[in-house]
Amino acid sequence: MSLLNQIDKSRAPRHVAIIMDGNGRWAKSQGRERTFGHYQGVESVRLALRAAKSSGVEFLTLYAFSTENWNRPKEEVDALMNLLVQSIIGELPELDENEVRMHAIGDLDKLPSECHSELKRAIAHTSTNNKLNLILALNYSARWEITHAVKQIVAEGIQPQDITDELFAKKLSTAGFPDPELLIRTSGEERISNFLLWQIAYAELYFVETLWPDFKEEDFYAAIVDFQSRERRFGKTSEQITGDALSPFTPNEP
Ligand code: FPP
Repeated sequence: MSLLNQIDKSRAPRHVAIIMDGNGRWAKSQGRERTFGHYQGVESVRLALRAAKSSGVEFLTLYAFSTENWNRPKEEVDALMNLLVQSIIGELPELDENEVRMHAIGDLDKLPSECHSELKRAIAHTSTNNKLNLILALNYSARWEITHAVKQIVAEGIQPQDITDELFAKKLSTAGFPDPELLIRTSGEERISNFLLWQIAYAELYFVETLWPDFKEEDFYAAIVDFQSRERRFGKTSEQITGDALSPFTPNEP
């Protein structure tokens, strides 16, 4: 029986973010070039979108290309950019069919022009879809995003006393999106790798051994089921959350 049946959709995380890792290792395990892993990874993107929609998730952010990824061999970078363009064009009908609205975060102006223009076209084309928001992190890094926000604040002459958490969040490229409640990373690596550092302050972290091309709908549901089994305290005690009497294990977190 599918794990989807174990998900309480009324308590689904509104926003799930994924670090899609392990494409290269997956390809190697098949005796193929790294780019084959990225091609296979697109199928997992498709499945993750379907699973997110079925689970009641409203926002899905995917780390598709980091600012550090430019350091990869040129052929791999070219193949990834090409794959992104082809995927954006090729997936548009399915995005429409599923009422998926596309967004992008990152230093988009520095993407190859075809990639940037197709991205802008897809964002405009899907702007009235409203079942699920797909946010592609492209040429993205959290440190870039944070320094970019600081520059904007300085350029706008905003005074120190007016700078609050809320104001700062509005200067990030995720302005208007809720913070992710669940961050998934595949491939067994347990790192954040410069992804959404501000936004994941209270996110639950879920690390799984599965390589991204092997990550299927059931793997997505397993992450949501695990998320729903966790107690989220936001710095409060268990008792403040549940209203229960004091237990001998009263946590005392800051
Ligand atoms: C990490 O695996 C994956 C990437 C850097 C790229 C992810 C891109 C895709 C899945 C394809 C396109 C995406 C969309 C949204 C259409 P890795 O190469 O670092 O794997 P490794 O750690 O095994 O080397």
